[in-house]
Amino acid sequence: MQLPAGVGWTALMTAYARAQEHALFDDPWARAAVDRAGDAARLPDGRESGMWAALGTYFVTRSLFYDRQVRAAVDDGVDQVVLLAAGFDGRAQRLGLPEAVTVYEVDTAEVLAFKDAAVADAPAPTARRVTVRVDLREDWTPALTAAGLDPRRPTVFLAEGLLMYLDEQQSDRLLDAVTGLAAPGSRFVTEWFERNPAGEPSLVSWPDERDNRTGAAVGALFRSGPPLPPAAWLAAHGWDVAAIDDVGTHAATVGRETPWMFDPAHPDGLRVHLVAGVRAR
Ligand SMILES: C[S@@+](CC[C@H](N)C(=O)[O-])C[C@H]1O[C@@H](n2cnc3c(N)ncnc32)[C@H](O)[C@@H]1O
Repeated sequence: MQLPAGVGWTALMTAYARAQEHALFDDPWARAAVDRAGDAARLPDGRESGMWAALGTYFVTRSLFYDRQVRAAVDDGVDQVVLLAAGFDGRAQRLGLPEAVTVYEVDTAEVLAFKDAAVADAPAPTARRVTVRVDLREDWTPALTAAGLDPRRPTVFLAEGLLMYLDEQQSDRLLDAVTGLAAPGSRFVTEWFERNPAGEPSLVSWPDERDNRTGAAVGALFRSGPPLPPAAWLAAHGWDVAAIDDVGTHAATVGRETPWMFDPAHPDGLRVHLVAGVRAR
């Protein structure tokens, strides 16, 4: 089984953080993906690497923001969950969703083939799990509806760890496509960096050169993300803001120290927007 490369590899990086987490949640699918990847997914841990400690806090705590939005939507009767750029997301299993809920995992064929093999012996999903293999820069919505998504019923769409790999036009096209599938009451939850941090101290000025190599490799994949700040961007596409935060503030509210890397008040800190929108009924 081929290991995902490039931006696909970044899904192993976020899975690695979730696999190490035990206090905020348990993620057997992340562990299964990391175990299957072996040395390719083995990253320094937070005790050895300042950069990894900061990234690990980001990846783990942001997941709680998305989890809350999914739970709130399902509590409101939404039974379609779409994970755009799903990677090794384990929500179909980890959240204990009812079996009446369908979780659509949308990602590249390479990533989803690796995931299917990795989770084959892991705990089974509680929700119905459907995989959709597409390139999200292309016209992907027909594949999602062909897989069963009903655009007449509300859906919660997650784009976790995706928009930083898209440019302004690609981000707009993605949200246009989501909007076209979003019945009233649908939600869209996502995050992105206020500026592209490629080459900045937060990615390439750590004491350990291994961190700087990882930071340079990740930075090389970054694009601009959406063209507007979160509330304006959602409004421009016909969405109301249901929740808005940033990674540093959110980390503190879930009991983790805000790393300087995600503290916008620090001279080299980054603001990473976390936002949830809702389509008016
Ligand atoms: C950082 S990972 C995030 C994975 C998961 N959402 C998480 O938070 O762990 C980025 C994911 O985006 C997917 N991705 C990036 N660009 C994509 C594209 N154009 N089409 C489909 N998937 C894409 C990658 O394959 C990868 O799984």
